[in-house]
Amino acid sequence: MNNIKKPPSIILSLDLPIENAVNLVKDLKEVSAKIAALKVSSLQVMEVGIKGVVSELRTFTDLPIIYDHQKGCTDIPAIVERQVNASAEAGVDFLIAVPQGAGPKSLESFVDACRKKSVEPIVLLEMTHEGANEYIKEDTSKKIFEKAIELGVNYFVVPGNKVESIQMYKGWAEETGRDIKFMSPGIGAQGGSAKEAVRAGVDYPIVGRAIYQAEKPIEIVNRMYVECLEGFNGRK
Ligand code: XMP
Repeated sequence: MNNIKKPPSIILSLDLPIENAVNLVKDLKEVSAKIAALKVSSLQVMEVGIKGVVSELRTFTDLPIIYDHQKGCTDIPAIVERQVNASAEAGVDFLIAVPQGAGPKSLESFVDACRKKSVEPIVLLEMTHEGANEYIKEDTSKKIFEKAIELGVNYFVVPGNKVESIQMYKGWAEETGRDIKFMSPGIGAQGGSAKEAVRAGVDYPIVGRAIYQAEKPIEIVNRMYVECLEGFNGRK
């Protein structure tokens, strides 16, 4: 497994056709020290399969690869296990689970399978967009957090554009006494600020469109990285 850099650092979300994703990562080589990991997307997996995505990237980068099955861990436990196994065999380092629609048995299966295959599990607690919580009960994210903590999960996705939510989740994490890390989308294209998110407790802003749709992606990585450092230094 390829280890992730210490926070704060950016996770680059590669929601692009594989050829463009590969070119972007190559173009960003000079700022790769500011990138913690590459998040690969279900879109590329639909194009060339998970093995194809990982083997393309592994020809030129050692950055950890997070596979975001968008939205993984939503099936019955037996299928969840096989999805994890297939991703692990392709060589991913981290996998994201979104167990909101599937419940604790599927989450258990996800984490167990990840552990057996030395893949680091990441669990989503809350989404970023308007209406995201419409079909979800008030205590859902708390229940998921508690179950994931019991299972030994150390990485969580929280909404980077909702500072109050980040602070609440940070409080839960501190209560565990464990070294919990937060990864957050919602930065840039969805209005969140890397500086504010990191100040509130985010360790790794996840950024896609704000980088890959920019005229000069290197400049955005540099600027967001400075914001991450400022936010980190501004933590109470
Ligand atoms: P952008 O282009 O918005 O990409 O920087 C965000 C990436 O994160 C994935 N993802 C989410 N995005 N809210 C989001 O905005 C969420 O709750 C969330 N969960 C995961 C998204 O699929 C894209 O890859």
